[in-house]
Amino acid sequence: MEPATFILFGATGDLAKRKIYPALYNLFVEQKLPQSFSLIGLGRREWSNETFRANVEQSIHTFSRRKASDAGVLKKFLDALRYSVLEIGNTDDYKKLLTLVEQREQELQIAPNRMFYLSVGPEYFETIATNIQESGLGSANGWKRLVIEKPFGHDLASARKLNEHLSKSFTEEEIFRIDHYLGKPMVQKLEVLQQTNPVLQALWTNRYIANVQITASETVGVEERAGYYDHVGAVRDMFQNHMLQLLMMLAIHLPKNSTAQKVRSQKKMVMEALEPLQKADVGTSVIRGQYTAGTIQGQPVTGYTSEPGIPSDSMNDTFIAAKLQIDDVFWRGVPFYIRTGKRMKDKITRIVVEFKEPLKQHPSVHEEGPSPNLLVFEISPNEGITLQLNTRDPQHKGEFQPIHIDFHTSRGDVPEAYENLIHDALHGDPTFFAHWDEVELSWKWVQPVLEAFEENLVPLHSYTAGSYGPAESYDLLAKDGYHWWLDD
Ligand code: BG6
Repeated sequence: MEPATFILFGATGDLAKRKIYPALYNLFVEQKLPQSFSLIGLGRREWSNETFRANVEQSIHTFSRRKASDAGVLKKFLDALRYSVLEIGNTDDYKKLLTLVEQREQELQIAPNRMFYLSVGPEYFETIATNIQESGLGSANGWKRLVIEKPFGHDLASARKLNEHLSKSFTEEEIFRIDHYLGKPMVQKLEVLQQTNPVLQALWTNRYIANVQITASETVGVEERAGYYDHVGAVRDMFQNHMLQLLMMLAIHLPKNSTAQKVRSQKKMVMEALEPLQKADVGTSVIRGQYTAGTIQGQPVTGYTSEPGIPSDSMNDTFIAAKLQIDDVFWRGVPFYIRTGKRMKDKITRIVVEFKEPLKQHPSVHEEGPSPNLLVFEISPNEGITLQLNTRDPQHKGEFQPIHIDFHTSRGDVPEAYENLIHDALHGDPTFFAHWDEVELSWKWVQPVLEAFEENLVPLHSYTAGSYGPAESYDLLAKDGYHWWLDD
């Protein structure tokens, strides 16, 4: 890996503390960072290098997958860190930063390859990108990359505007848009599973697949993010990005030796083939919900509108379920059902692929046929794959018995999403980052849904905290003769 300087905006923030430092530390321990690794943390707080390092150390102790048991390794990691005070709008601070970056590059004898990681609110993206460019930080004789986190805009128009601004300072190839769901190891495996297994390749069409169900349920509520969440809802917070990315990753068809470009062009094709919704029809394919008081894992919790900071008349969606159709040769006629929500029964992200039932198609076969084959991808918190097949119950000869072929990885061995993504960004591998085309097409699909919600054209159903969402989200599948699998 080429040596590079990791320049982190928002170095004193929560995301850095919880995700970025632990990820970097784990990569460091596994020797997956460049030999001469250098990180410069930036924030408004007047911290010294020592205070910064003490904070990073604390975050590693608290949040890292690997515990910092080897003091020597930890010290080496912390030695690579520097801190500089930066006011986002102050151009002088960028000049100071440039001096520091160059100084470190000389000390370490490394090329001016610079990765700018923006762990700050999207309202700062534009100013930072412009200042990087104008200060000369971005015009050295090496590569430069910009890593940004969602949200990429608030709707289609604002996303386009943001992208236009960023592309004045960075090319598309230099922008790495993080969708941390794309960093989850099982999501990354979907590509390989399909590419290298003829069994799956052969079945990956509407000839065999009846429907696909994608669930990301959370037990947490709005936590301390009422101000943010009440303006975005489940549709912007999870659906437009993470959920549609899962759909793309499941639906793509890849050739054997595929490249990052191929993955991205296939994802774009999936999005282009997604049947658009008209605003007036949103209600037939999209269910929105909001939680009321209930009990989760034995703990009573309040309803959404009683959460601190949430207006008592809020119409915000804390749950969304939708039926989507991909109009191409592979998927025509196969509904993709997606649901995600806060304060649901379990914390689970999974995809269930339900296969068609061959016996049911035959009129002479009795109603009580075998169960459908299910291929289940458990994405998190546990990672695994299960295949449900049918056999015959040896005790009751006439009856079918579903059996499960199971594969699960043990949790400690699985890298965190951010480890994978930071590693790939440092390598310059864009496979698991959201290309602008995907982001734009996702907003395009979602736009009528946002408008229908805004104009209250779609009812806001309530669901009890601790359930799997409103009853209407079951009706969405029942209309097609299906039901959500694995809700128990
Ligand atoms: C974030 C959302 O992008 O994803 C949060 O903003 C959500 O609201 C989180 O809780 C879920 O991520 P994960 O990895 O815990 O499923």
